[in-house]
Amino acid sequence: MSYQTLLLEVEGQIAVLTVNRAEKLNALNDQVVADLAQAARDLAANAAVRGVILTGAGPKAFIAGADIGDLAKQGVMDGRARALKGQGMLEGFEKMGKPVLAAVNGFALGGGCELAMACHIRIASENARFGQPEVNLGITPGYGGTQRLPRIVGKGNALYMLLTGEHVGAQDALRMGLVSKVVPQDQLMAEAQKLMKTIVAKGPVALALTMDAVDRGLETTLEEGLRIEADAFGLVASTSDMKEGLTAFLEKRAAKFTGS
Ligand code: COA
Repeated sequence: MSYQTLLLEVEGQIAVLTVNRAEKLNALNDQVVADLAQAARDLAANAAVRGVILTGAGPKAFIAGADIGDLAKQGVMDGRARALKGQGMLEGFEKMGKPVLAAVNGFALGGGCELAMACHIRIASENARFGQPEVNLGITPGYGGTQRLPRIVGKGNALYMLLTGEHVGAQDALRMGLVSKVVPQDQLMAEAQKLMKTIVAKGPVALALTMDAVDRGLETTLEEGLRIEADAFGLVASTSDMKEGLTAFLEKRAAKFTGS
């Protein structure tokens, strides 16, 4: 697997995917969006990979948004199609069925903030800055900013960011729940690896069903969400991973999950 605009390193069960366009602060041009969509499909299909870390090249940016040069060229009928294509790419990560962690190493603006929000966990370096600055350009967010941001940080915080276009620092992002952890920049990837190693040691089926129950449950009533949870609980009861997890606890040893 190789991509024009991405670096992919797979070590053990963890893939590190880096958007590699540092000279343009890793802005999402059409090629990056196409490469990311392909990478999400490849990683989903790769049974050896159990978790993915997504980050940006260089010390300054995770992703500084959609490529404004590409946006400037778009015709009147192109915007909706561009938004749907980008949204589809983000869903490739959100619905991969494997945990995806965004290691936000600098600017995460516009599409960068939106891509980070489609990941299951976000951690940030102290220099990270988040924002939805689309209104500064006279446009609206197109890759989920109006939808995932309020679901993560609440309507008030989301509208503050969406209407002012202001950047939010790492500590404010932590306070709002936009990220789960802030660490010094030189420790970001080590922390991401440490977290992901902890996560991929769990049962893959249990992880996938948990993420699915959270996502589907957030879009429905509590009653329906609880049924989704019960269905997942019923399904995991049929896996050998459940037997292994319970037996390993009783035998006071680490479980070895196979994902079956
Ligand atoms: N699209 C295309 N190019 C971008 C970009 C984007 N979203 N963000 C940064 N770049 C490019 C710059 O044009 C510049 O290219 P150049 O060296 O060829 O001129 C390069 O990346 C470095 O950016 P620069 O603006 O010089 O860095 P800075 O440290 O002064 O400012 C930002 C950093 C992030 C504050 C600033 O680049 C910015 O506001 N970017 C746009 C963010 C945005 O609106 N994103 C949402 C788009 S919908």
